[in-house]
Amino acid sequence: MCGIVGYTGYRNAYNVVINGLKRLEYRGYDSAGIVIENKDGKHNVAKTKGKVEDLLAISQSSEYSGNTGMGHTRWATHGVPSDANSHPHVSNNGKIALVHNGIIENYDSIKILLIEKGFTFKSETDTEVLVNLIQYFEESQADLDFVSCVRYALNEVYGAYAICVMHQDHKGEFVVARLGSPLAVGIGKDEFFIASDASPFVEFTKDALYLEEGHIAHISLKDGIEIRTITQNEPVQPAIQELKLSLEQIEKGGYEHFMLKEIFEQPKSIHDTLRGRLLVKEETIKMAGIWDHLERFSKAERIIIIACGTSWHAGLIGEYLIEEFARIPVEVEYASEFRYRNPIITNKDIVIAISQSGETADTMAAIKLAKEKGAFVYGICNVVDSSIARITDAGSYTHAGPEIGVASTKAFTAQLTILSLIALKLGKHNGSLSNAQFMELITELDAIPKKVQEVLENTHEICKVIAKEFAHTTNFLYLGRGFNFPSALEGALKLKEISYIHAEGYPAAEMKHGPIALIDENMPIVIIAPKVGHYDKVVSNVQEIKARKGRVIAVVNPTDTQVRSQADYSIEIPMVNEAFSPILAAIPLQFLAYHIALIRGANVDQPRNLAKSVTVE
Ligand code: AGP
Ligand code: GLU
Repeated sequence: MCGIVGYTGYRNAYNVVINGLKRLEYRGYDSAGIVIENKDGKHNVAKTKGKVEDLLAISQSSEYSGNTGMGHTRWATHGVPSDANSHPHVSNNGKIALVHNGIIENYDSIKILLIEKGFTFKSETDTEVLVNLIQYFEESQADLDFVSCVRYALNEVYGAYAICVMHQDHKGEFVVARLGSPLAVGIGKDEFFIASDASPFVEFTKDALYLEEGHIAHISLKDGIEIRTITQNEPVQPAIQELKLSLEQIEKGGYEHFMLKEIFEQPKSIHDTLRGRLLVKEETIKMAGIWDHLERFSKAERIIIIACGTSWHAGLIGEYLIEEFARIPVEVEYASEFRYRNPIITNKDIVIAISQSGETADTMAAIKLAKEKGAFVYGICNVVDSSIARITDAGSYTHAGPEIGVASTKAFTAQLTILSLIALKLGKHNGSLSNAQFMELITELDAIPKKVQEVLENTHEICKVIAKEFAHTTNFLYLGRGFNFPSALEGALKLKEISYIHAEGYPAAEMKHGPIALIDENMPIVIIAPKVGHYDKVVSNVQEIKARKGRVIAVVNPTDTQVRSQADYSIEIPMVNEAFSPILAAIPLQFLAYHIALIRGANVDQPRNLAKSVTVE
């Protein structure tokens, strides 16, 4: 998500920064900006909504020549993509420039304080608050040096950040800091590079330092690098390492494919989706989109979820979640079918449209129809300011970060996270959930990123082994019940999309109504069988499969004995409320699809015939 590049040395900073931003484009972004320090120390800023090419078009003049500068590609979290919201942000006195990746969660309370002190704001971003807070410390505590002002400001904020700061009174210097978002420093002879990953500077130097969590560094050509801890101000020895990665590997964060990288990003993407919304201590869920329209949601006679592909699977789980926790009737429709079947929609309906890309033509067309018929349309999108985000009446973003692999992974689990939040919020509001039930559920949801991390660590190896065994079969069945019936559909879709193996997902109980005819010793069956809901019935389904010599790959909980004793392979996921189990179950199914596709030599990130945004109907 988004990118930072900085340079100080003897080269033309503008070229290094612009080329560096281009290298970071793969991360996805919506605006770009640059600041160059001229020979008098003055900062020249150019920034724009759009691409690095658009930035180039507005920053070609000689003003932008100098040996120190920094740039940013923004993936909007606070405020729409616009010129004003783009980074760098500059302090009120014009002296400090700052670029930021991440989220300052308590920005609104600090903003109020700064406004009381006379500060003004040009953007809607959380970032502009931080740059002015630095100015505030500089003015109010005269004995503080540049790095201390930044450190003091960071000690007042919480959230996630990688920042790079320049100051007109401190020529050729940077202060950088990191908490949650990555930042690397490249060390050349008489020059320094700063970037979100090493790709912008790998061609100039192989010596790099990855700033650690909670560290702040002062970088200057005169004094080199000095690192301290943000909270305690304790000095830290710089750990410089030699870069061994190729450019392409660096872009993929060292992973062989974007899909694998994105699978591994899920603890963070789910955490980012919950961040600032799920507030366990305050015993509440705060989501602007829902918050502002709670009454409308409460009065809804029916919710209709429309989506395609993986997002449709998320919608099916959304139906279970909303009906279970909020007791509002839900229907889930393929957006493509909805549009063409003359559906009955009234202004008492709420339509929830789910789309990672926010550009899917079928979903767009269905939204237009729902709006024409007077329904209130709520969007769940990953791409900020995408067409669907703009055309819907209200909505929530999944903060999963850019998803590059065509097979959706982290966007799916982020969608499930948002849908869980919506269901719990509505259930609490309309009294379907007691306070005690609500608290128990939100505490469990809050622990999901940690459990996802455990699943990543504990299931990857076994999935590789299973993939090896089954990579050359021609068919797969995926079965699950209750909340995990859609998990079975999603597991099957992942496999067919990227490995080109024919796979079907079914509710486990439906097996006896047809698919059981397919089962023999050559048929692998993936069964999602956590010890929740209708576990006993799933045990019987496994017995029925084994009686017909099917090969069973079971996703089970650690305390399971009955399914495990019958299965050919078992994959363990931690125990969790059934409603959240699809988030955990999704991960081994993603691994399985990935490793099978890899063995079959398929193009994992760009499978044949598929596009990331399906903008045709
Ligand atoms: C997911 O792995 C697929 N590539 C596909 O089914 C996708 O989910 C579908 O095209 C919908 O896309 P959207 O979420 O961007 O609207
Ligand atoms: N939260 C900041 C903004 O919305 C930074 C976003 C980013 O990481 O690019 O401007």
